[in-house]
Amino acid sequence: MKGREKDLAPPLIVTPQDATIRFEDVYFEYLDGQKVLNGVSFEVPAGKKVAIVGGSGSGKSTIVRLLFRFYEPQQGNIYIAGQNIREVSLDSLRKALGVVPQDAVLFHNTIFYNLQYGNINATAEEVYQVARLAGLHDAILRMPHGYDTQVGERGLKLSGLLHIYVYSMNVVSQIETGAVVLSRSPGCRLN
Ligand SMILES: Nc1ncnc2c1ncn2[C@@H]1O[C@H](COP(=O)(O)OP(=O)(O)O)[C@@H](O)[C@H]1O
Ligand SMILES: [Mg+2]
Repeated sequence: MKGREKDLAPPLIVTPQDATIRFEDVYFEYLDGQKVLNGVSFEVPAGKKVAIVGGSGSGKSTIVRLLFRFYEPQQGNIYIAGQNIREVSLDSLRKALGVVPQDAVLFHNTIFYNLQYGNINATAEEVYQVARLAGLHDAILRMPHGYDTQVGERGLKLSGLLHIYVYSMNVVSQIETGAVVLSRSPGCRLN
């Protein structure tokens, strides 16, 4: 029954202009009586970056899990672009979200391959456009083999930041709307 309800749920509609995330008085606990989030409210306006900082075990990853609906809050609501994430299809919700882990993995292949991987239907021009948006296009063109430069395991070791950028662009290109990207700080060992 639950599965059927989800299938019938309308899709989440997100655009780059309207992708605001809002937590409204969210309470959550994994185990009875062990509160992790105790009435959390915040807003991430579309196009803005928000860093959530806190000690290990303070609930940062929990916020991400709730956003993906791996768990649901016991009280309170989470909205994306004004839509309650409980009321949209799970498939559409997860398609709209991307995560950039701190230990980004690149394939032993070209930069182009790594960028295009998230959406193998993307044209070369679309891949370049995404790289331009990230301010990476020129840096890539300055490399001796440009987009054909081999990276990954036994290829060129990209500097940490570029590595993360290539990975995050890969994620962005998976998201048709390019609307919501969750990132984990590259310098941080905790997650
Ligand atoms: N699956 C789980 N079951 C029970 N408790 C959990 C679970 N996952 C996390 N916790 C607890 O919830 C709290 C918040 O965890 P988490 O969100 O992972 O913290 P952070 O990412 O800020 O380090 C911690 O006390 C952790 O032990
Ligand atoms: Mg964590």
